[in-house]
Amino acid sequence: MKVQVDRRDGLTAAADVTASGVFERPEKDDTFPRSLLREDELLQGLIKAAWARKEVKGKRKELRGEITVFHRPDGKGRILLVGLGPRSKYTVDIARRAAAEVVKGLKGKGARTVAFCLPSFVAENVRSEAAIAALAEGAILGNYEFQKYQSTSEGQVEEATIHLGEEFSRDEATLKRVVAAQTALDDVVIWTREIANLPADTASPQRLAEEAIALGKEAGLKVSVFDEKKLAEMGCGGILAVGGGSTAHPPRMVVLEYSGGARRGRTVAVVGKGITFDSGGISIKEAAGMQEMKFDKSGAVAVLGILRAAATLKVPPRVIGVMCCAENVPSGTAYRPGDVVRSFNGKTIEILNTDAEGRVVLSDGLGYVVKQYHPDEVIDLATLTGAQRVALGDDTGGLISNDDRLAQGLLAASALAGEPLWRMPLTDYHRELVKSEIADVRNENWIPYARMLTAAAFLETFVGTTPWAHLDIVGPSWTNASTRKWQPAYQNKGATAFGVRLVTRYLEAAPLHGS
Ligand code: BES
Ligand code: ZN
Ligand code: ZN
Repeated sequence: MKVQVDRRDGLTAAADVTASGVFERPEKDDTFPRSLLREDELLQGLIKAAWARKEVKGKRKELRGEITVFHRPDGKGRILLVGLGPRSKYTVDIARRAAAEVVKGLKGKGARTVAFCLPSFVAENVRSEAAIAALAEGAILGNYEFQKYQSTSEGQVEEATIHLGEEFSRDEATLKRVVAAQTALDDVVIWTREIANLPADTASPQRLAEEAIALGKEAGLKVSVFDEKKLAEMGCGGILAVGGGSTAHPPRMVVLEYSGGARRGRTVAVVGKGITFDSGGISIKEAAGMQEMKFDKSGAVAVLGILRAAATLKVPPRVIGVMCCAENVPSGTAYRPGDVVRSFNGKTIEILNTDAEGRVVLSDGLGYVVKQYHPDEVIDLATLTGAQRVALGDDTGGLISNDDRLAQGLLAASALAGEPLWRMPLTDYHRELVKSEIADVRNENWIPYARMLTAAAFLETFVGTTPWAHLDIVGPSWTNASTRKWQPAYQNKGATAFGVRLVTRYLEAAPLHGS
């Protein structure tokens, strides 16, 4: 989708649909909103009449804005009003959601172009720059659908124009710059979602490596791919063990390097879990829901997206991306419960459950990046535990960190991006639970509680004292039919590419968090 900024009033342009936001009025105040006077005039009093009948209330219900559609008497398309809720509770995320709701509502209605009237989406707590970025983002992300395998589709909205209106005082060039940077990031998010949505027969570890190589050529990144032979030489026993069950789709570790913007200095490593399919292996999962395990590569695919965004937006720090890719399936060559494997950093892992494979592949990626690149900080992204979803649900990722400054920086970026995180503790209790009787660590224990945190304690073993943050992103990485109703309209069916926007925002701000 193309997003443009136009100085003129939204009503003078002839888009298929022109959208304005409407704030909910306090109970006893039913004064007609001044911001809708022009629309009402054009519609010859229709909005005022609907307002009087309480058909237009500006409400948000079940996390969605009320939408009212009017047909213009001049035949130039439709005027659409979207509810923003009470003005005092308005946020950037509501603007983002509202834009996505507008665009999604146009699906199957033959609309190709949409116009947003910016002034109606601006309020005391959401200024014009934040509002315009949110509208652009909501429109792009809400418009995306995974259609690769559908021979017929409803068609998407091709163009969104955000209208400032003549009397709007904010300078146009600044707003255009904001929109250009925002759309560049959101185009990367769409690209990331498209890869994350691919099924496991297509998105094998090798295919993910090829995507990285292609990205490297396009964006000028250095890319190295380690195949099973090289991984054996390096001593990456974790990835080799997990990937050993699949002779058809052998494991790969992929390293991408973005050398940094003009003010370089810091090195940030991002490491992702890339299980292209998680059947559980010998400790096999139940059949129900197993199709969703194609999304178990979401962390590694997010790393791909983050590297693309870093290069596109030229973020200041040097960024090293590591994707730990393997297919976890049972077979005669699969690893077993009881096996002991040696990770890259020399630590041994007792395997007690082959379905706790994410931490095993990440052990190599973390150990490798720390030893090879001495990063100032490491961030890993992984669909690591069902416990994350139990604790935090589908909208909020778990954040576990050994470094307060890094954690605070990520929380700030998370709020900015609208990708929620919640910090969870890591204590000696969790560290004790990952100790093994026969090896250095074990990948499962019999305590059924705090499994998001014991998984984090396991990972911590492989980063040493490097400042590190772990993002457990099972819940927010994809949506399905039963959860989608409660999720923002900009997180469409399937992969969300959670983490790309928040980590990119963090990288953009990284110099603010230290030298
Ligand atoms: N990929 C799963 C995590 C997961 C669970 C994703 C449910 C989506 C839905 C991970 O590899 C896993 O199976 N984790 C186990 C760990 C346990 C065996 C210690 C889990 O969370 O149950
Ligand atoms: Zn698993
Ligand atoms: Zn998994």
